[in-house]
Amino acid sequence: MKATAIANANIALIKYWGKRDENLFLPQNSSISLTTDCLSVKTTVEFSSRNKKDILILNNRNYPLNSKEYKKYLKPFLNKIRKLAGTKRKIKIVSQSNLPKGAGLASSAAGFAALTAAVNEALGLGLNKREMSILARQGSGSACRSIYGGFVEWQRGKKDDGSDSFALQIAPADYWPDIRMVICLTSIKEKKVSSREGMAQTVKTSPFYPCWLKTIDKDIKSAKRAIKNRDISLLGKVSEENCLKMHALMITTKPGIIYWNEKTIALIHKTRELRERGLKCYFTIDAGPQVKILCEKKDLKELIKGIKKVSGIKNVIIARPGPGVKISKNHLF
Ligand code: PMV
Repeated sequence: MKATAIANANIALIKYWGKRDENLFLPQNSSISLTTDCLSVKTTVEFSSRNKKDILILNNRNYPLNSKEYKKYLKPFLNKIRKLAGTKRKIKIVSQSNLPKGAGLASSAAGFAALTAAVNEALGLGLNKREMSILARQGSGSACRSIYGGFVEWQRGKKDDGSDSFALQIAPADYWPDIRMVICLTSIKEKKVSSREGMAQTVKTSPFYPCWLKTIDKDIKSAKRAIKNRDISLLGKVSEENCLKMHALMITTKPGIIYWNEKTIALIHKTRELRERGLKCYFTIDAGPQVKILCEKKDLKELIKGIKKVSGIKNVIIARPGPGVKISKNHLF
């Protein structure tokens, strides 16, 4: 009843921002992402009758059961799993990650994908990837995409029960070996508004939300065409436009949600300035202040040189396309 899994964060190119069903985590629109090779979470789980309560240890820190993380995010998910498996056993979860939590770096995506695969193995649920994607989605929407490596689409689906809302691989990690995502950390402070709360508020209050939905199909089509043709200019252009549209939604939510800081804005301008000078680089930003810049390997050196001119950047991580979730024999406890 013990198992371990490793999952990587994915960065959305066409964003998911808004649910049509809060309980089943059904999205308002389809999205597309790239699974990375370096922002990973490793999780060991054990269901045991010896555990009197759930135990949660993240990066060597014990999370109390009255913490928001457990009560709001984890407990409902674990209860769904216990119901599915027909068990009342409590779980011990030990998780190690190399990415800052709650800073808009998809820590929850990698976390819930690893947890889903580990639980599937530990309880012998026998879920295939599609079914794991459906389950992971109910921990954190974007987690359904981290089940797969490379370029991934999370299909919105139409059914009310969510059985057709899952991720599918568009192209594996080795399909476009020269693509890179340069992740610039501008702050490691935890964000004030979680994506879950933020997007719910946006759906309710942003006057632009219906317009956003009208544009998604076109963005998805362009991104897929760009991936098919390994066309960095088209993929970068549509990703950057889609990201700015999502942030316009956030900003026009009531009260307005602004995830950017002054370094985020400096990096936006720097990316555009470098592009004007001929570099094929394009930014994307999620529910946090970090800037992720899409480019190809040949332009990395020039891009990093440019980024270094922006003062105050905490760290730069160069991500390549990475694999989907994997089971490991090396347990954390
Ligand atoms: O799945 P969540 O609740 O972490 O939301 C993810 C939201 C964005 O990262 C902003 C967009 C996306 O598609 O990943």
